[in-house]
Amino acid sequence: MTRHIDLTAFAYGLPKAELHLHLEGTLEPELKFALAERNGIELAEKTVEDVRATYRFTDLTSFLAVYYPAMQVLQTAEDFHDLAWAYLQRAQQNGVVHVEMFFDPQAHTSRGVPFENVIGGYRRAALRAQDELGISAELILCFLRDFSAEYAMATLMEALPYRQWIVGVGLDSDERDNPPAKFAGVFARAKAEGFLLTMHCDIDQAGSIEHIRQVIEEIGVDRIDHGTNIVENEALVEVVREKGLGLTCCPVSNSFVTEQMKAEEIVGLLRRGVRVMLNSDDPAYFGAYVADNYVALAEQADLGPAELAQLAINSFEASWLPAGRRSAYVERVRTYAAEQGVQLPA
Ligand code: HPA
Ligand code: ZN
Repeated sequence: MTRHIDLTAFAYGLPKAELHLHLEGTLEPELKFALAERNGIELAEKTVEDVRATYRFTDLTSFLAVYYPAMQVLQTAEDFHDLAWAYLQRAQQNGVVHVEMFFDPQAHTSRGVPFENVIGGYRRAALRAQDELGISAELILCFLRDFSAEYAMATLMEALPYRQWIVGVGLDSDERDNPPAKFAGVFARAKAEGFLLTMHCDIDQAGSIEHIRQVIEEIGVDRIDHGTNIVENEALVEVVREKGLGLTCCPVSNSFVTEQMKAEEIVGLLRRGVRVMLNSDDPAYFGAYVADNYVALAEQADLGPAELAQLAINSFEASWLPAGRRSAYVERVRTYAAEQGVQLPA
């Protein structure tokens, strides 16, 4: 007999990896005020409510127009540490045991903040997460696609002395007129330097399918961020399923930058055996951390605990952990489900 399950508690307790998380997107208004005060910066907004009132997004571009200016409060290594540390504590409350975190060095170097402040602060928080929270935390350096390929290459060169601290590289910011192929040379060099590769293929962009094709066939990525529009092309769905490529879906984020969570698309891919999992993207802006994304999708698409557990299994299988640790975590999900009286397919 199956016990009655509290799906929210189940989702929070589920051991999971988070693979699509922008550290700069975890800046909560309260911390923004604290950092502004520490750095002597005058903000236009006076209260947390004023800040939240600016969170009116209709698409990716309008989100980014709010997102980048907020980062001016981040200046010292301590600021970057405090930002990441606050996120990592929230992640632990959301059942995260492993996280691969995006950071955008060019959003800081372009306004005069040294690269070493950014990476130094983030790295210290990642080490602390392992020691104090039992969370393994890795960093993925993202290039801003609305800047030039030359600036991306220079950023890659600047990162090389820190390569031990960076698991892979990604591509984010405004996708319009900035296709993956623009960065083919940068990503080829990154691969040659030993970095794993991922790129954003955002939701409902002009050229979505062509961009997804480019990341698979021309760039040779190890994962795709979002990528949900792949449902429009059967042949590409078959390719990612065959290759076991992860798609890092972000349902609550989708509901802010488009009309909907894209629940039907995400669940359709899950049920076809594509390696999709759920993530929070920019949780401070979208008001939902990763477990909240599991709960939101479950409510929207009427998922039960077994499918939530499959999403968590996918999060480890699509992660960049060594194979032995991946399978150990998958076993942890299976044990957790069994303890909760949830039957998973073998
Ligand atoms: N897409 C592109 N750029 C971003 C995102 C995203 O989801 N989040 C933060 N920067
Ligand atoms: Zn993102």
